[in-house]
Amino acid sequence: MISSIKGMKDILPAETESWQFIENTIHNICQQFHFKEIRTPLLEQTSLFKRSIGEETDIVSKEMYTFFDRSNDSITLKPEATASIVRSFIQNHIGEDQPSTKLYQISAMFRQERPQAGRLRQFHQYDAEIFGSTEPSADAEIILLNSAIFKNLGLTNFKLILNSVGCENCRPNYRDAILKNLTSLKNKLTPQSRERLEKNPLRVLDSKEAEDIEATKNLPLIFEFLCDSCKTHFDELQNILKSVNLNFTINNRLVRGLDYYTKTAFEFISENLGSQDALSGGGRYDLLVSQLGGKKTPAVGFAGGIERLLMAIKKENQNLINNKTLKLFIASADTSSKNIVFQNANNLRNAGISTDFDLLNRSLKSQMREADRQNAEYLIVIGEKEISEEKVLIKNMQTRTSSLINLPINIEEINLIINK
Ligand code: HAM
Repeated sequence: MISSIKGMKDILPAETESWQFIENTIHNICQQFHFKEIRTPLLEQTSLFKRSIGEETDIVSKEMYTFFDRSNDSITLKPEATASIVRSFIQNHIGEDQPSTKLYQISAMFRQERPQAGRLRQFHQYDAEIFGSTEPSADAEIILLNSAIFKNLGLTNFKLILNSVGCENCRPNYRDAILKNLTSLKNKLTPQSRERLEKNPLRVLDSKEAEDIEATKNLPLIFEFLCDSCKTHFDELQNILKSVNLNFTINNRLVRGLDYYTKTAFEFISENLGSQDALSGGGRYDLLVSQLGGKKTPAVGFAGGIERLLMAIKKENQNLINNKTLKLFIASADTSSKNIVFQNANNLRNAGISTDFDLLNRSLKSQMREADRQNAEYLIVIGEKEISEEKVLIKNMQTRTSSLINLPINIEEINLIINK
């Protein structure tokens, strides 16, 4: 038997309804915030991710699905959406006729990480980006969009963690300061942090290992190094969030695992997710568009994982997603009624009523069992008697009450019953 690739899961029919519910909510909320959907290819040139996410990050140095195609070009399955959206923004001159652009995407992403709960090799992100604004209100809008998605899905147990990682003017000073400190602490760090120290010292702050946390507890904080512009930006963002009563915690150690951030960095975390506790994350990246060859364009965005969202929703409220979508099952009492069942089901479906019937020539008893198994809300049984009397009973499967309606089934009449 050939099985699926490790860390890549089928989303089975029993789950797809929850997925559709989440995706529809994301589409609706993004539209409410006036974001437009953008779809970019799954494959991109490898250099796009190396130049944006950063060669020394975990994603680029060890997690990307990179291979040579038949033309010997190095291509990569996208590990995140931001780089692709920026590439498309530049290539298609998207920002040129509008001062600010708001885009979103829902797509599969690929990272060859060690699979565990909440960590897959093919996973799905919802992602939103705003191009063209340096204003803290754009950062706030991204954060609020993110929390609106959670709230509309009924999620209540989440926390916003906020930081500023500085800009090209102030971050180098901070980097120098912690590099000096970390070099003297080198022997107390885990091997992974020692390796990071050489390549990307700020990432040492992000380590979840107790040894690293203990060794680095007295390191200077980025906050002490922020320039006036970054400080003001961060203060204003906090004031906006307070004005709309969105609670947050500042964590000066939050640096995120991608190199493109400037100023704001944030994560939404949930206690219900175990060790992979980030529901979503994002921040500002004012230099990336110009680094990838576009005009200097400030930008801010976020992405969240749908699998983690689903885990968190299930932990909080199992019943949130109602998996009852079949309105009506029509059973035939005898073989001669099958055509009539087919015709009526066809009319009902054309009128937008979800309807199912037997395709296996089963006995009436098994058809009734099937209606139950499919969670049909209503059941109709058509036989010779119903056809000759031109009347049929429609039964509410929950209340077990029945009403008599005309046959052929009249759409207006049945709608009065099923939409009560
Ligand atoms: P990220 O923090 O790498 O950021 O990923 C965002 C979210 O994707 C995570 O918080 C998590 O929910 C989900 N995620 C990441 N890796 C996995 C995985 N292996 N399995 C399951 N879920 C996962 C970004 O990707 C940035 N592009 C966010 C951004 C957009 N920043 C600015 N704009």
